[in-house]
This record gives sequence, structure tokens and C-alpha cells, in this order.
Amino acid sequence: MSSADPGISSVLAETRVFSPSAEFVANARLNAEKLAALHAAAASDHIGFWGDLAKQELAWQTPFRTVLDDSAAPNYRWFADGRTNASVNCLDRHLGARGEKIAIRFEGDAGTTRTLTYKQLHAEVCKLANGLKSLGVAKGDRVIVYLPHTPEAVIALLACARIGATHSVVFGGFSAASLKDRIEDAGAKWVITADGNMRGGNLIDLKKTVDEALAAGGKSIEKVIVLRHGGNAVSMAAGRDLWWHELLSAQSERCEPEWVEAEHPLFLLYTSGSTGKPKGIQHSTGGYLLWAHLTAQWIFDLKEDDVFWCTADVGWVTGHSYVCYGPLSNGATVMMYEGVPTYPDAGRFWKICQQHGVTIFYTAPTAIRALMKLGDDWPKQYDLSKLRLLGSVGEPINPEAWMWYHRTIGQGKLPIVDTWWQTETGAAMIAPIPGAMPTKPGSCTRPLPGIFADIVDESGTPVQGEEAGGYLVITKPWPGMLRTIWGDNARYQKAYYGQFDNRYYVAGDGAHRDKDGYYWIMGRVDDVLNVSGHRLGTMEIESALVSHPRVAEAAVVGKPHEIKGEAICAFVICKGQRPEGADADALIKELREHVAKEIGAIAKPDDIRLADGLPKTRSGKIMRRLLRSIARGEEITQDVSTLENPAIVKQLISKT
Ligand code: WT7
Repeated sequence: MSSADPGISSVLAETRVFSPSAEFVANARLNAEKLAALHAAAASDHIGFWGDLAKQELAWQTPFRTVLDDSAAPNYRWFADGRTNASVNCLDRHLGARGEKIAIRFEGDAGTTRTLTYKQLHAEVCKLANGLKSLGVAKGDRVIVYLPHTPEAVIALLACARIGATHSVVFGGFSAASLKDRIEDAGAKWVITADGNMRGGNLIDLKKTVDEALAAGGKSIEKVIVLRHGGNAVSMAAGRDLWWHELLSAQSERCEPEWVEAEHPLFLLYTSGSTGKPKGIQHSTGGYLLWAHLTAQWIFDLKEDDVFWCTADVGWVTGHSYVCYGPLSNGATVMMYEGVPTYPDAGRFWKICQQHGVTIFYTAPTAIRALMKLGDDWPKQYDLSKLRLLGSVGEPINPEAWMWYHRTIGQGKLPIVDTWWQTETGAAMIAPIPGAMPTKPGSCTRPLPGIFADIVDESGTPVQGEEAGGYLVITKPWPGMLRTIWGDNARYQKAYYGQFDNRYYVAGDGAHRDKDGYYWIMGRVDDVLNVSGHRLGTMEIESALVSHPRVAEAAVVGKPHEIKGEAICAFVICKGQRPEGADADALIKELREHVAKEIGAIAKPDDIRLADGLPKTRSGKIMRRLLRSIARGEEITQDVSTLENPAIVKQLISKT
């Protein structure tokens, strides 16, 4: 589903229900009774509920007196008169009891391994924090992190947090143009990057991309800190570029934390919306950290001897919340793997689980589907008996993939937590508590304690009945929510609260709810695609296409894809004569590369069709729904008589 569809109805009839084993329930941090108590507390006293948890779960330098300030709603403020520091919560408070405990187990692309204890991680974070200070980085400054998925990424995040700098991670797969845009939007003066890294045996030349970004713009950048990691040759600009190891060599392993107000921006993270320009989602320190911390504990049932592996790259919000802040604030051991699931072969994930004794495994449906396709023989070669809990995030998991995950990886008995959330929500919102409730394949189950969700129709009225679909909304503010869009508060208010007059936070997803109150997410309702669990705005891809000299106009829609969830299909109108045959093929190839260069390889259209025009209404609006049907090869049953140029439909169809 895409494009606001009133009266959405669900066709999925999944009736299987899976209960956790008696053993899991007996040992779980939260059982049904404790969960009910949490829900009851949140329902009877929303403010008291959050205030108590914030006091109990986080270390504060100055305790807060006000829990929620809603005087400027929908710009909510949480714990605003309290002061804390995220790195202290993730590191210092564990040094006593957990100083020698492993914080990070790392495996590189080529199989090399490394571990860091909490003490060692603390020392490295302090050294980098001091190094950043020596370069003039101060509280409130934005620092771009463009690193491979190695322990240094976590060190960089926590070092920024330690001195009150706001980090903005750009995923290593993004192009120079995307990096430049983010640098400029954030007004950052520093970039932390690496020479390069290997992924699936291929070199990713990160430093070269940074150089290109800075040659094209990003004039605010003063210094580039370069981690030596890939060993590839790089050019270092005198006065601008410096090596991480040289910067850190003389730094002390102690660094006094900067105590920041709870509302102080911990990070920005750019994500796609329905317009062309990515949004700098701004998260707070106190509220965000509380939510990442609690959800890591509740949903993943974190225990002292767990080895928690969230496979997401730190470049996405999942990596922020479940590689760094959530597990580390709980003092857990985190697994980090630099590479891809299928290198050197399709057994890599399972080999890592065996070798590092992974107990909790959290990944995306796209990876599950890809590995499922490669067959059961791969996981069967490895001892997965240490696993006790599985998770999924990023898009709806289809029941078939859920069942494979359950049977083949979960040995038919492990609970699966399907967690629904967004970059904007900070951490998971609708997800099972594994020891407290049964799960159903394809449903993310029920809102977590303290989260109040609903499903409403076009007028904002809650829908009734099992089959009725509608807009998924959150009806009360929560501490982990985004605070604003960096530099564009009006866009924040409009995008998330505008649709129903500030009554609800609008997620942009469609959903329905069954008789047990379980939520089933039906996908985006706006012009946003979900490709391999990552959001891409159709407008963004269209803008990239139109920036090519030969393109006059472009329209991008999604179509279902077996592994990626959604594939990108682009309809392109050329300037001048439309090329045909080999010329058309060459242009299509060029356009795919062009999009990769403008945004990143993840946004490359899978299917590009050249045409003479786009189907438009008489008011000039592109009929996306029609294009979606065409892309999918569906029979066109819609009325096309109101189109400005009905003949174009025939042309588009004849090309499929
Ligand atoms: C969008 C958010 C959450 C971090 C990773 C993606 C979709 C996410 C699920 C799920 C169904 C899901 C939604 C959401 N989504 N998790 N468990 N079931 N859909 O973060 O890039 O901010 O994307 O991903 O459509 O709105 P994101």
C-alpha cells in the first residue's frame, strides 16, 4: 500500500499463535504479570510512570523536577531541568562491577577479531573526547561520523556525547553528494572517517568520498580525522586532515564528562520523507537514552551474560539504539560485525553466532529472506544452541520468512520479537515482551508500556473492527520521540502533527488491529519506499534522476521484491528525442549509476522505463497509483478517462 488509501482493508489471514516456552517465561525479566503492572502504571499515571523510570534507570548529575513540559506542544520537552551525560550512563557507571566485562566483541570483514572491555572502551572514548576538545569541538557543535561498522564508530558516538557535541552519522554507503548535503545542513566543522574498509571483500574508499564531498562543498568543515583501518592509500590535505592514532597518541584516558541538559541534542540522523530533502531528525539526550535503555531491557530480555547482536550498521537508527546506547547503557556485551551476511559464504552470520556465543540475534526481514533463499544447509552447519531470542526490524516480516526464522534459526522454540519503530521514535514502540505474551507471524503485537497507539481514519476517528485499516498514530508524547527536524521546526510540526490538528503523532504507516489488540503494519501511506529495511523518498530519487542532463521528468514508484521488500521502478521522460534500442539501454545504465552517485548504491532503480510522457490528471498531478499498477504489471482497472493524456497509458503498458 502506498499513497493515502482511505478504507484500507487487510487481506492477510494469519492465525498461528506461538507462546514462549515455560523455561523462557520462568527466566524472563518481565512475565505477563509484571508487564500488566507496567501497563497499568502507565495508564493510571502517564507522567509518574515516566518520571519513576527515568529516576530509577538513568544516572543524573542534576535530578529533574519536571517530567514533561508540553507548553510548546508538539515540541515536547522531557526531564528538561535535569542534567546527565549519555557516555557516563553507557560507560562510567559500569566500571565498578563490569570494568573487565567485554563491552564489544568485533569481527572484521576478513575474520579478524577484537574485544574491548568496558574499561578499555571508556579509555578510548576519553582519549578521542580529549582529542576532539583539542581541536576545538565544544558542546553543541555537530560532528559528522562517516565510519565503517567497527568499534571506532561506537567510540566516536560516545566521545561526542562525552563532551556534549551532537553527532550526525552518515551511513558509509551514502555518496559524496549525500554526505556533502548532510554536512551543509548540519553546519558541521568536523568529520570523523576512515581511510577505507572492506565489505564482502570489496574496498570501500571512504576517505576518497569525503574528499569528493569537500571538493564539491561542505565549506564549514575545518578538520577531518582519519582512522587507519582499510590500509588503502589516501591523500591527506595539509592543515585539514589528521590521523586518528596521531591525535589520540598523547591524550589522557580520563576526560571529565560535560553534563548536559536532558533536552540537549545527542544526535541528528538524516532520513527520507515524502519531499526531496532528507530530514535531520533531532534526538535528545535524556529522553532518547531512557527509551533506548528500557526497550533494550524489556524487548530483548537482556541479562548479564548475554551476547547481543544487532546486525544493523551504526549508520542507521537501529545501530544507534541497539548497537550503542541501548545495550551499553544496560552494561551488556555487544557483537559487531563489519561485513555482509553472505561473505565469504551464506554461512557467515551463523558462523559468527557459533564462534562468539551470540544469545540474542536481531536482524532485518530482507536479510532473513535472502538467507532463507540460500537454504537450510548453511545454518545447519553451525551450532546455534546458544541463541535464546530472535528479533526483526525494518519492515513487515512476511509470515513465510517468520516461520523459516522460527524453525531453522530458532530451532522451533525461540521467541521472535518483531519490533515496529522509526528513526523518529528513537527506539521500538510496538513490539512483544517475549516472556509475557504469545506472538503471531507478521504482527509486531502490542504497544510497549507507556506508548499509546491507535489506528484512525481520514477524519482522525479511531477505526473499529478487525479488518479496518487506517493511519497508525501515537496519541501521547513519549520520552524517546524526535524533538524537531534540524533547522526546520515548521516541517517537524507539519510532517508529524499536521494531519490531525496536533492531536496525534502520525507515523506515516498504515495498520490494522486484530481482536487481541495486536497490530499489523501494512506499509507506508506516503511517497516513501522501504527498500531492504531502509526508507527512501520517491522525491529524492526523482530529483537525482532529473539532475541528469538528459532527463526532463521522472516519477518513481515501488513494486514488491522478493528479497528487498520493495524494488524501485522509475519512469523517465527524456529531453529531446527518446532513445531506443542499444541507446536506450546505455542511457538506462548511465541513469542507474547517476542515482548511485547522487544518493548511494542503495537508491539505484531496479527498473527504469523511458517514455514520452507521464500519466497526469488535468490539474497536472502524476497518477502514482496508476504507475504503481503498471510497474507491477497489473491489469489497469482504474478509470483513466480523466487523464490529461490517456494515450500515454497504452505506451507505458506496452513497455512492460
Ligand atoms: C519505517 C521506519 C526502525 C528502524 C529501522 C527503519 C517500517 C520498521 C517495522 C516492522 C513493519 C516496519 C515502517 C516505518 N518498519 N520496522 N517491525 N514492521 N514495518 O527505520 O528508516 O526510520 O523506517 O520502517 O514503515 O515507518 P526507518
